[in-house]
Amino acid sequence: MWHFRLWDVQDVAVFLSITLYMCYLAGAISIHSPQRSLTRSVQDDAFFSVDVTCSEVPTIQWTFMSGAVSRSIGTWQPGVYTNITVDYVNRVQAFDNGSMGLSDLRLQDAGYYVVTVTESAGSSKDAGFVLKVNEVIYEDLQYLSVSALALACLAGLLMLAMWLLDKAYRKLVAWRRRKQMPEADATELQRL
Ligand SMILES: *[C@@H]1O[C@H](CO)[C@@H](O)[C@H](O)[C@H]1NC(C)=O
Ligand SMILES: *[C@@H]1O[C@H](CO)[C@@H](O)[C@H](O)[C@H]1NC(C)=O
Repeated sequence: MWHFRLWDVQDVAVFLSITLYMCYLAGAISIHSPQRSLTRSVQDDAFFSVDVTCSEVPTIQWTFMSGAVSRSIGTWQPGVYTNITVDYVNRVQAFDNGSMGLSDLRLQDAGYYVVTVTESAGSSKDAGFVLKVNEVIYEDLQYLSVSALALACLAGLLMLAMWLLDKAYRKLVAWRRRKQMPEADATELQRL
């Protein structure tokens, strides 16, 4: 009994010291984000929503990663300065709470987005996002091929209907001729 309790006390102590150490490492920074995974189509906009809280004005840095590629998107300090990388300057919008808007998506934009929040004391914290970008062309093609098939079926049906009508008309004409012939013969016979 006493033995177990001793272990419990030790566990609690270890847990507390780990928590305290983590708090010390993380400083007063906290990053809240409602959604960490986004799926968008080409030419759509993506909004990486975060809410950064920090005891002082933080430095926010966004980085893009995909395979071996890692490039800086931009760095800003809310109300102080905003520095967006040349490649992204027309497509990126920086928000005071740390959020980033990326517009006119391309297929190459798919990958990981990491926001790093740094305090002047040097402590930092980061959060990662996954962005999937879907191609829309395939959907359009599928839609096109389905409508082409429907149109072809309709054309086929119309052609069949016209062929049948034509046949029926010829039959009617032939039948009428056959019906009128004996009468004509009869009147001609009468006249004679
Ligand atoms: C951050 O700010 C933007 C713009 O004001 C807002 O749309 C977004 O919801 C905020 N994000 C969070 C997680 O609060
Ligand atoms: C903006 O960033 C670029 C590189 O990302 C750097 O060379 C430049 O000094 C920065 N400008 C400011 C004002 O921080």
